[in-house]
Amino acid sequence: MKIYKSIEQFLNSKIEIDNFIPTMGNLHEGHLSLIDKAKENTGNICVSIYVNESQFNNKKDFDNYPITLDLDVKKLKSKNIEYLLIPNKFDIEKFSNPFNIDYAPSYLISDLCGKYRPGHFLAVIDIVHRFLQIINPKNIILGEKDFQQIFCIRELISISKQETNITISPTIRNKHGLALSSRNAHLSNEEKILANNIYGSLILSKDLFHKGSSINEITEAVYDFHKNSLIKLEYFTVRDLKTLQHTYDGDLIALIAAYISDIRLIDNIIIRSNA
Ligand code: PAF
Repeated sequence: MKIYKSIEQFLNSKIEIDNFIPTMGNLHEGHLSLIDKAKENTGNICVSIYVNESQFNNKKDFDNYPITLDLDVKKLKSKNIEYLLIPNKFDIEKFSNPFNIDYAPSYLISDLCGKYRPGHFLAVIDIVHRFLQIINPKNIILGEKDFQQIFCIRELISISKQETNITISPTIRNKHGLALSSRNAHLSNEEKILANNIYGSLILSKDLFHKGSSINEITEAVYDFHKNSLIKLEYFTVRDLKTLQHTYDGDLIALIAAYISDIRLIDNIIIRSNA
């Protein structure tokens, strides 16, 4: 595995990247599954590790973000990927242009998680835009757990007329259903057990849908499920799988964001995939 810390060196090497996986490090099985997904495509794999400060909504979250570079490098080496890029902010900004916010998909970035995390998706779009300029990969591999992020990056690719394809990789869960996330490390053992109920309520929403409940009934049932619990729902909603709009005649996805103490977790489940 060739490691590049300098973008200039990366660009001078003139390698063409087939599969690009952007990460913020602190790699877990979820990230490693993105690599397995990338291996289903042809060609080489480049992972980036860059903790993008501007996408954090509060400074404390950024300051507490675990940096585990040595361990990350070890895990990536064991996965036999070809390239690892660990750039710094100065370098990224030197070798790429910012995203022009006049083109921002304003509805999308202020909907769902964007409503509660102002500026977050714009910052994600900006950093991915910069990476796409630098790396120009054939494919970018993104996790299904960050479903709205996929839509933002899809919009970015279309706005910037990039040729990159998106490969979506399914969410990896522990055996009780909790979606893997770097944030799970901040949960106590009891909180982790409790957090399984987030997926539990998504399963409930899917079951209710298939038993004929209306979207309103499902939404009410999920809010009810968490009512007297230490899980504080930020939102639960059912949307069209392909557009993320409030239309219910096509394929459907249920999306959830919830807090346990001050840890924010998100998840989703496809509740109908063959409308
Ligand atoms: O999903 C993430 O880890 C980040 O949002 C990303 C895509 C690496 C951009 O910083």
